[in-house]
Amino acid sequence: MKIIIHGIAGRMGAEVARLTEEGFRGAELHAGVDLGGNASGFPCFQSLDQVPPGADCIVDFSNHSATKTLLAYACKTKTPVVLATTGHSEKELALIREAAREIPVFFSANMSLGVALLAEMAKKAAAIYPDANIEIVEIHHNRKLDAPSGTALLLANAIKEIRRSASFVLGRSGHGKRTEEEIGIHAIRMGNIVGTHEILISTDAETITLKHEAHSRALFAEGALAAAAFLCGKPAGLYQMRDMISF
Ligand SMILES: NC(=O)c1ccc[n+]([C@@H]2O[C@H](COP(=O)([O-])OP(=O)(O)OC[C@H]3O[C@@H](n4cnc5c(N)ncnc54)[C@H](O)[C@@H]3O)[C@@H](O)[C@H]2O)c1
Repeated sequence: MKIIIHGIAGRMGAEVARLTEEGFRGAELHAGVDLGGNASGFPCFQSLDQVPPGADCIVDFSNHSATKTLLAYACKTKTPVVLATTGHSEKELALIREAAREIPVFFSANMSLGVALLAEMAKKAAAIYPDANIEIVEIHHNRKLDAPSGTALLLANAIKEIRRSASFVLGRSGHGKRTEEEIGIHAIRMGNIVGTHEILISTDAETITLKHEAHSRALFAEGALAAAAFLCGKPAGLYQMRDMISF
């Protein structure tokens, strides 16, 4: 499976490139692409248009602002794409849905099995405790650009599948009581923390805490290559972790 790594000079791109050196899930590096040049030590083009044909899949860990160009290239070359980047605007999300009508697209703000499991557990808790207050706390390293994290939004949206009237309150401030339906989402940025997500579910009588801690970026890189292997040979469509894992 020949992979183009989009954003290869970044922290995550370099991690995926390292795994291709080991042949993880049968992956080999077809080409790296990065606006910022060859920072990771792997061969790197500055634009997708310079990449020779023949790739089986693109793995994207770059920036959401690259979405339009990236998807135009993937549709033109009929290359499946794993979108692991976060922070997309509504307009970019619409482009992703549009591209998925032409090519297979795997899109997940978190490529770890543990977070997929956490989302399922949160849905279960929301169903069992319809009146509980639910809050999400996420902690990431001090270089992270988007807040709240794509994973916190993924978890909040999973809960909203059960609690349809839920609204999201980002970093609560000011005066006034919380409403029953709101889900508070709180972002902490400090040090070198890879990614911690905590869901607190509280009634007057008890609190349940569901927590996931990523210990290494390799977790997400491995998940992205597993998603690439899953995507190869699939028909056009929008795929997510839930499609790859059966609970
Ligand atoms: N889905 C997941 O499981 C998961 C896990 C970790 C990080 N992420 C997301 O992946 C993205 C990258 O994270 P990171 O920590 O590696 O960031 P990073 O800043 O270390 O790396 C991003 C790289 O992308 C490059 N880049 C930016 N715009 C580009 C463009 N238009 N074309 C080509 N290259 C471009 C940058 O030069 C940089 O080298 C972020 O959106 C982050 O939130 C997702």
